[in-house]
Amino acid sequence: MGKNTLEIKNLSKTYKGQTEALKDVSFSVSRGELVSVIGESGAGKSTLFRCINQMIEPNAGSSIVVEQNETIGISKKKLRNVRKQIGMVFQHYNLVYRLTALENVLHGRLGYYSTLRSALSLYTEEDVKRAMELLDMFGLSERKFFKCSNLSGGQKQRVGIARALIQNPKLILCDEPIASLDPQASKVIMDYLKAISKSMGIPCLVNLHQVEVALNYSDRIIGMKDGEVVFNGSPIQLTKDKIAYIYGAQIDEILAC
Ligand SMILES: Nc1ncnc2c1ncn2[C@@H]1O[C@H](COP(=O)(O)OP(=O)(O)OP(=O)(O)O)[C@@H](O)[C@H]1O
Ligand SMILES: [Mg+2]
Repeated sequence: MGKNTLEIKNLSKTYKGQTEALKDVSFSVSRGELVSVIGESGAGKSTLFRCINQMIEPNAGSSIVVEQNETIGISKKKLRNVRKQIGMVFQHYNLVYRLTALENVLHGRLGYYSTLRSALSLYTEEDVKRAMELLDMFGLSERKFFKCSNLSGGQKQRVGIARALIQNPKLILCDEPIASLDPQASKVIMDYLKAISKSMGIPCLVNLHQVEVALNYSDRIIGMKDGEVVFNGSPIQLTKDKIAYIYGAQIDEILAC
């Protein structure tokens, strides 16, 4: 087993000195792993993702190490580099709908460009070629020049994944990537995430609402409850009792959702 790509230690986040959204969270993710984060609404899953991506600042004493580098409390310049290493995939895709699929994928390269160059959208030929390849890879060859507003949800999410990948990320964070998709489109997206973690070796940390999907696709599952990690193990180890504890509900209710 290689070194961990992501190592979180004693991560806490208290919003406005009130809500303790994360309490002393510690876990790691290594190369090639697909790790799901599950837990009921308000458990702290999105807060965890926002802390990893540094959209919000955790409490003092928290540590998040990405590829052996501490990312908490670093300079803005270094933070820019950390953000390049983390590809983000969102529930609502976060695409610019009036632009084409190709242009949206290229947006993933902006972190590598100067402000002037990005303002003028002067992408290199190499980046355009790579964006095309990624769209081909995700079955969107015929959709490269479609406006994103005209794509289906599943196609939009594939553009979102291609945009994350063109960053050459060391880690991909997906906050509810399939929550807006039907089961068939969800399967396609999860199959791609699995392939990315396995064949490209890029670990994916995926926040999921559907326990069954987490059980089917994950190498490991992190269960969160009230801001704490209450389970960290393989799908086989996640017994029905443990699922019920994480969700504070009857197992039948959860699996019926
Ligand atoms: N910006 C904020 N300011 C204050 N409190 C917040 C903020 N964002 C989240 N919280 C609170 O922090 C807790 C964790 O929220 P979070 O969004 O991380 O949960 P979640 O597990 O992602 O839930 P869901 O499954 O509904 O998306 C909740 O109690 C929430 O109300
Ligand atoms: Mg959330």
